[in-house]
Amino acid sequence: MVSTHPTGVQHSGSQYLPPRRSSQANSSPNQELLPLTARVHNHDFLEIGGCDVTTLVKQFGSPLYILDEETLRLGCQQYRDAFKQYYKGESQVLYASKAWNCLAICAIAASEGLGIDVASGGELYTALQAGVNPEKIYLHSNNKSREELIFATEVGCTIVVDNWHELRTLVEIVETANAPDLQPRFLLRLTPGIECHTHEYIRTGQLDSKFGFDPNELEELFTFVSKQSVLKCVGLHAHIGSQIFERQPHRDLAALMVQWFRDAAKYGLNLTELNVGGGLGIKYIESDDPPSIEEWVKPICEVIQEACAAENLPLPKLLCEPGRSLIATACVTAYTIGSSKVIPEIRTYVAIDGGMSDNPRPITYQSVYRAVVANKMSSPLSETVTIAGKHCESGDILIKNALLPKTEPGDILVVMGTGAYNYSMASNYNRLPRSAAVVVANGEANLILQRETYQDLIRQDRLPERLKNQELGVNS
Ligand code: LLP
Repeated sequence: MVSTHPTGVQHSGSQYLPPRRSSQANSSPNQELLPLTARVHNHDFLEIGGCDVTTLVKQFGSPLYILDEETLRLGCQQYRDAFKQYYKGESQVLYASKAWNCLAICAIAASEGLGIDVASGGELYTALQAGVNPEKIYLHSNNKSREELIFATEVGCTIVVDNWHELRTLVEIVETANAPDLQPRFLLRLTPGIECHTHEYIRTGQLDSKFGFDPNELEELFTFVSKQSVLKCVGLHAHIGSQIFERQPHRDLAALMVQWFRDAAKYGLNLTELNVGGGLGIKYIESDDPPSIEEWVKPICEVIQEACAAENLPLPKLLCEPGRSLIATACVTAYTIGSSKVIPEIRTYVAIDGGMSDNPRPITYQSVYRAVVANKMSSPLSETVTIAGKHCESGDILIKNALLPKTEPGDILVVMGTGAYNYSMASNYNRLPRSAAVVVANGEANLILQRETYQDLIRQDRLPERLKNQELGVNS
């Protein structure tokens, strides 16, 4: 069946291209399906960042993550500029690098003036190695190890303290180090009790959450913190969840945080920072309709300014930490199509050379994606197929009912919106080497993550002496 538009026009992969605008600065990257530089050239071929996708796959192998630098930079600039425009106080946007943490991405975000939110010692190490100024790094996690706390304290980044155990450990670390000038800077993470409509695994704001201090113990918390001279509490943090389209929850959060801010002052805490977290959603499929970056930032700034004016409070330095809305749309994953299986009257499976190891989101959250065929961009979308990964797992399905042109082995399937929580959650399931990633800009492609080799896969394996030189296969 050839898919037709209500107007009678046949769809093709080109329908997913961002509209041509005189200035790309008008597009909010999170509202597009493909990166902003995506074009069709030579009638049928997809180009991103001025590079032909099929050529990239020939050069760097398959599967391949392709990151469009312009889309990522534009997102960073839009966040930064929106705060400048709508907030009268100081502001700082942090990139939530859990979405995709590697040297090149930290370096791009930092070069746009963003700080980096890290969620572990490993992410912190990477950001530092990328040259990010520790004063612009914020460390998260609900169970930071002692070593991670010491690491963060020594390098001088800000710690987002999540719970009592961590708070006491931090005091003890500084006291036993007997180095009063260490004075770690920290924010307190509080659970706001604000619910939003997103997948339950990525909701964090509700009271029943593993993250943050219970807001019912604010009195005890602020009293304790106000007595600590070895630590420097500079502000408050909250995050309500991820892939959120609604606007009200973030407005509610901003208002609530100003109340906390006011309450803290009553305990003599001189706080200067409020961090409202991340969470702005992106368009994965046509019907997704997230607010733009500007539409997300503006009401948060307005609510905080109004609430501070009403309470007669000085404006805090306002921070936020988006991940997905900065990086997801900037990246696509290119796969090579291989086998297929037609089950008459039931379904056609088309298999690609990756799957749940490079994109675990469909199997984890039932996430939905769209795809195009990079070498058949103008062909009519004539088939509805199920895109299967190559893993030994029936649930390893990347897209159910993908509308594609007629495909054949060797075609390049491009899945959109794969920049967030794909590489960062990738695994070596079935001992598949992790894919390579390139950054593209102005017709140039540079490797940012090398493809793993089979040697890499056994790099951490150890074969104990007593297992060597055994007679293998004697019982077979
Ligand atoms: N700040 C904190 C404290 C967070 O926990 C997160 C995300 C963010 C910021 C960034 O949120 P974003 O702007 O990206 O929505 N693996 C899941 C998403 C987990 C989100 C974890 N925290 C997924 O693939 O959907």
